[in-house]
Amino acid sequence: MAAMEELYNQPIVLDNGSGTIRCGFSSDELPRVSYSNILGRPKYHKIDYLPSDINPDDTFVGNQAQLRRGLLKLTYPIEHGTINDWNTLELIWQQLLLHDLMESNTLASQGNEVSLKEHTMLITEHPFSQRRQREKMCEILFESFGLGAVNVAIPAVLSLYSTGRTTGVAVDVGDGVCCVAPVFDGFALPGSMSRINIAGRDITRQLQIEIMKDGYCLNSSSEFEIVRNMKERIGFVNASATPVKLNSYNADDQVEKFQLPDGKFLRVQKDSLSRPSELLFQPQSFGPEEQSIQDALYKSIMGADVDIRGKFFETIVLSGGCTMLRNFGSRLLHELRGIDQEVKLKIYASPERKNNTFVGGSILSSLSTFNNIVVSKRQFMEDPALVHDLYF
Ligand SMILES: Nc1ncnc2c1ncn2[C@@H]1O[C@H](COP(=O)(O)OP(=O)(O)OP(=O)(O)O)[C@@H](O)[C@H]1O
Ligand SMILES: [Mg+2]
Repeated sequence: MAAMEELYNQPIVLDNGSGTIRCGFSSDELPRVSYSNILGRPKYHKIDYLPSDINPDDTFVGNQAQLRRGLLKLTYPIEHGTINDWNTLELIWQQLLLHDLMESNTLASQGNEVSLKEHTMLITEHPFSQRRQREKMCEILFESFGLGAVNVAIPAVLSLYSTGRTTGVAVDVGDGVCCVAPVFDGFALPGSMSRINIAGRDITRQLQIEIMKDGYCLNSSSEFEIVRNMKERIGFVNASATPVKLNSYNADDQVEKFQLPDGKFLRVQKDSLSRPSELLFQPQSFGPEEQSIQDALYKSIMGADVDIRGKFFETIVLSGGCTMLRNFGSRLLHELRGIDQEVKLKIYASPERKNNTFVGGSILSSLSTFNNIVVSKRQFMEDPALVHDLYF
């Protein structure tokens, strides 16, 4: 990719994930700003309980919230890809776009006036989201942030582009949504996509429950972040399916240790660390009547024309933080083999797959054709429905 050229009107790329928000400019190889999509508000209202640099009305975004999380109530405004708390999200966008992104822009840091008006934005949203959500999102970007034009792109499709492919099936498992998106010759096949609202945050919640059985209660919004870190460090997926016994306890099981910020160690059964990810592979065992990831993937591919199915089975591309769980790819392969022994299967997982969506957005927005798939502020004011028709 060409070195980033600082331009006043460089498109902005914003991967507005349920768990992580990533932002940068078109052609950037990695996001310039990337942090948890959270806002923290002090949970104590008596000034005496707060350090001198925190006032009761302060808000902290992303890493700044993580740094002070013991004193804050943390809110994720997006749950399962649905924006539930618009005010909180707007505060996060303000910090991200008006401060953190602009500070990373050398034109702005040299004292030049850089206004968002000059910029086009590519922002992500999962497929099958409410129409009203997309219109409100664009309305805020145009009216509160003054952007010039907007494109709304599907994260899974972008992550396929990021690997240099234009044909394949993207399997994107993030914090809120698991999405399967077959793409042929650069075009997403909307009729064959699937979305399951089970992903990393549900796995963290299940881990909170599992470790309660090991004797640890980490239930506040800041402790949730500790459990998430534990999942990322020592959580894993069983390489093959084993029946989920929610109340099983095997005293002979090996125990893993995890150090808390205060230096103490938690001792957690290995079973407790692997069971939560079964939510993706056998959700019915836990209650939700969602389909499993392997069923969604298999059905999506079988829903495509028979002539292209073979290519899809051979080009399954993983993306999203949740696919970083140890054994994720081999378990998915094992489950697909269980459904169909005849097809030739190949799963690709690049080490950078956490950032694939951003990178795909960075590539797409740098193409000369990108301007054909944006809606300008003026067009939006005349007909907001135009933002529903923005895909290749
Ligand atoms: N190394 C890791 N091992 C296991 N899980 C991880 C790892 N790194 C990140 N995760 C998990 O991945 C999830 C975040 O992934 P990602 O950033 O792709 O999601 P998102 O884009 O914010 O959400 P979504 O696309 O679902 O709206 C979190 O649940 C996080 O705990
Ligand atoms: Mg995502």
